[in-house]
Amino acid sequence: MIKLITAEQLKLGMYLHDLNCDWMSHPFVRSKFLLSDALDLSKIRTAGIKEIYIDTSKGFDVADAPTAEEVQKKIDADMLRVAASKPEAPPRRSVAEELAQARKIHEQTGRVVRGVMQDVRLGRAIQIADVESVVEDITESVARSSGALISLLRLKDADNYTFLHCVAVGTMMVTFGRALGMDPELVREAGVGGLLHDVGKMKVPDSVLNKPGRLSDDEFEIIRRHPSDGHAALIANGGIGDIPLDVTLHHHERMDGTGYPDKLPGAEITQLSRMAAIVDVYDAITSDRCYHKGMAPTDALRKMFEWSKFHFDEPLVHHFMRIIGIYPVGTLVRLESGRLGVVIDQTEGNLLAPKVRVFFSAKQNGYLKPEIVDLSRSMGHGGADRIASHELPEKWGVDPMRFLDVPA
Ligand SMILES: [Fe+2]
Repeated sequence: MIKLITAEQLKLGMYLHDLNCDWMSHPFVRSKFLLSDALDLSKIRTAGIKEIYIDTSKGFDVADAPTAEEVQKKIDADMLRVAASKPEAPPRRSVAEELAQARKIHEQTGRVVRGVMQDVRLGRAIQIADVESVVEDITESVARSSGALISLLRLKDADNYTFLHCVAVGTMMVTFGRALGMDPELVREAGVGGLLHDVGKMKVPDSVLNKPGRLSDDEFEIIRRHPSDGHAALIANGGIGDIPLDVTLHHHERMDGTGYPDKLPGAEITQLSRMAAIVDVYDAITSDRCYHKGMAPTDALRKMFEWSKFHFDEPLVHHFMRIIGIYPVGTLVRLESGRLGVVIDQTEGNLLAPKVRVFFSAKQNGYLKPEIVDLSRSMGHGGADRIASHELPEKWGVDPMRFLDVPA
């Protein structure tokens, strides 16, 4: 049986099933193993891991710990409660209408961030005006349709991961700040901070940054230096605002004081850095890496929900979920009617009932003529239809992104 226990309850002889934390935060590549080394036990505790799933069929048990199923039920109920509250105002354009322009902005932002990263690596001055200019483009795109740019952010390849991750964090910071009603100057600074937040990774040797296997303790320490290194590089550069500096230095701080580099208690972490921590982890765990398959967005949100108890600002996680939706644009879903489709837009009033373009029949295992179904109106084929589950595109051999903006 899989059970959730606290780090204090963890003992040698227990079988770890899931370290229950994002894999950027701990020095283990594997999450499933029999805990037999006291050093591993202390590493888990010092990594700030507070709760762990164990498999009681393979190791010692904790009698009164809740089962994974009980925990899951509670999280699902909490998520539904948050989902029932009102989502953001409807966008001016649909995702499909904004997508072509969003692709251009995404590419341009990628070029600028890559340039900035190279400048930092070579010790050259950063062209901050270029960064500000793409933040402006991002802000305008998000104002037209917040889902379009976001739907492009998961597409990353291993070589470009580090800078595309910065593009993703910058874009989500702008979206988040706008949705929170922050003033435009603050939104701009949040965006610049997001785009620059990982510049310190340019000081990490490639062999460590992209290492496919388990990191040694020393290598892990090198990676953990990137917020301070980035902050120092930006200070040396000059002309960078306080907010981007703060986001760069503190995006790995955690509300329970277990983050790095400063182990700040929650009360001392700024709202912008709390937001950056959320979008940083969300993007990291939904992205494919050479050693790790990215989680489906819906599963990632569920995990963030679970971790928010210790690591994140809970109300901000709830807000983030309302912004990107339980089924973000681009997610492949299976409807109760047996049709598969891609989420193409959120709808006003219900995060569980987005607009979906159906294009595949799970029953017949073949393509259908694409058709838009607005689940909030329950006007699916032959009456009401609902999302039964989210699905992995690989399982069906389909590419949902191809159906984001095809004419209906
Ligand atoms: Fe980072």
